[in-house]
Amino acid sequence: MKEMPKHIAVIMDGNGRWAKQRKKMRAAGHRQGVEALREVLEKADELGIRHLTVYAFSTENWARPKAEIKALMLLLLEYIKGESKALHKKNVRITTIGDLTSFDDKIQKEIAKAKALTKENTGLNFNIALNYGARDEIKRAVSSIIDDERAGKREGLAVSEEEIEKHLDTRNLPDPDLLIRTSGEMRLSNYLLWQLAYTELVFTETLWPDFTGKDLEEAIKEYQNRDRRFGKI
Ligand code: IPE
Ligand code: IPE
Ligand code: MG
Repeated sequence: MKEMPKHIAVIMDGNGRWAKQRKKMRAAGHRQGVEALREVLEKADELGIRHLTVYAFSTENWARPKAEIKALMLLLLEYIKGESKALHKKNVRITTIGDLTSFDDKIQKEIAKAKALTKENTGLNFNIALNYGARDEIKRAVSSIIDDERAGKREGLAVSEEEIEKHLDTRNLPDPDLLIRTSGEMRLSNYLLWQLAYTELVFTETLWPDFTGKDLEEAIKEYQNRDRRFGKI
C-alpha cells in the first residue's frame, strides 16, 4: 500500500466564482464552501490523515469589501460555535495558525473555547489558517527570536533552521506532504512559504464549493504517484 500523506494543506479557493456562476451573492459561495469543508474533513478523518491545514482567511483578505469581510466573520463565528462540539465527539483536535489578535473578542473567545475543548483529542488535527500570511508568520518568528535574545534565553548569535521552526505558528506540525489548491489558480498566495519547501503540489480546476471527498481521494492518489526526491537521486 502506498503511503498516505500525514499532513495535507488546502487553499480553499473559488467560492466567489462559484456564487457568480449561479448569480448568487459571494457570501452564498462562502456558505457552500463550509459544506465542502465539512465533507473534506469527514473524508480526511476517515482516511486517517493526521493533520489538515485549511486556508480560511489570509492577511491580504482584509482588503476585500467590508460587507464580504463581515459575512466571512459571521460565518466563521457560526462555524466555530456550531461545529466544535460535533468535532470534539469525533476526537478531532482544533488548532489555528495566524495572528488571531486582529479578530473581534467574540471570535477570539469562541476559538479559544474550541481549542480548549478539543486539546486532548488524539484524532485528526484540524488546523485553521486565520488571518494567516506566511510573511507575517516569518516576521513574527524573527521578532520572537530577537525577544529571546534580549531576554538572555539564547546561546550564541547563530540561528538554525530548527530554531526558526520552533518560532513559527506551525511549531508542532510536520511540513505538509501534499498541498491542494482549488479553482485553477496556480499560486501560493502567501500560504506556508517556509513549510511547503518539499511539499507535492496538486492544482485542480474544481471550485472549492464543488470539491468533494472523492476529489480529496483523487488528489491523494496523484500524490501517491509522485516521486519525492528531496534533492537526492
Ligand atoms: C476563497 O474563495 C475563500 C476566501 C478567500 C475567504 P474566494 O472568495 O477567493 O473566491 P474567488 O477566488 O473570488 O472565486
Ligand atoms: C487565498 O485565496 C486565501 C484563502 C483561500 C483564504 P485568495 O483568493 O485570497 O488568493 P488570491 O488573491 O487569488 O491570490
Ligand atoms: Mg480567491
